[in-house]
Amino acid sequence: MKTGLPLLLVLVVLVAAVRTSVSADQCCEEVTPPRAGQEDLECGFKAECNMQGNCCPDKENVAMVRQSYTCDVNCLLIKQIHHEMSASFLYQAYASYFQRADVSLPGIQKFFAQASHEERGHADYLIDYVNKRGGHVQLDQLEVDRADWMEGLMALEDALAVERFVNRKLLDLHKRADDLGDAHLAHILEHDFLQEQVKAIYDLGQYVTRLRKFAPKNIRNVRTSSYRLAEYMFDQNLLKSLDKQGST
Ligand SMILES: [Fe+2]
Ligand SMILES: [Fe+2]
Repeated sequence: MKTGLPLLLVLVVLVAAVRTSVSADQCCEEVTPPRAGQEDLECGFKAECNMQGNCCPDKENVAMVRQSYTCDVNCLLIKQIHHEMSASFLYQAYASYFQRADVSLPGIQKFFAQASHEERGHADYLIDYVNKRGGHVQLDQLEVDRADWMEGLMALEDALAVERFVNRKLLDLHKRADDLGDAHLAHILEHDFLQEQVKAIYDLGQYVTRLRKFAPKNIRNVRTSSYRLAEYMFDQNLLKSLDKQGST
């Protein structure tokens, strides 16, 4: 009889603790869908901080749309939009350079013009996506910091490095989406981005290999080498193949 009372007290405390934890979780785990106006939009929409400690104010997100979409993912998507826009801007600059009358490599020019258009499409896609998820897009300034492009090989090597960088960022974003259980973001990254990225890296790797076979050790010293002829033939073949793709 002497141990009965403390045991009863322990049981009462345990039941109270279980009740408290259930009520704290209830806001995120409704069993039946709420009716319009009854949903708890506060749930999950508190100001959050990303890994760098930057916080997203509530007012920058669209509460009625946003669901399982974290501030951290929003920040990573904004960075990805910037990477895609930067790639587009750089490729546009290359396209313009190779179109010059004193450079005149129409195949490489067309390749970069198309690549620029594609990257811009990727940025537009992600801007639409952030809005669909109830996030908030903020665009940053774009810069092209390449002042020394001269040969087709240098530009294609540069593009290969850019595509590998963009792919690394996409893989990081996919991992973050996976860790957070953001199935939809992981899905669109797999289907609409990663597949294309692998192909772009492979194509550029091939282009670089073909030109490197004729490039001197110092690519800036191409006048005395067979590189010029190889670049001309490469450019003509690339133009033909891009024209063929365009007509099918
Ligand atoms: Fe892209
Ligand atoms: Fe790309």
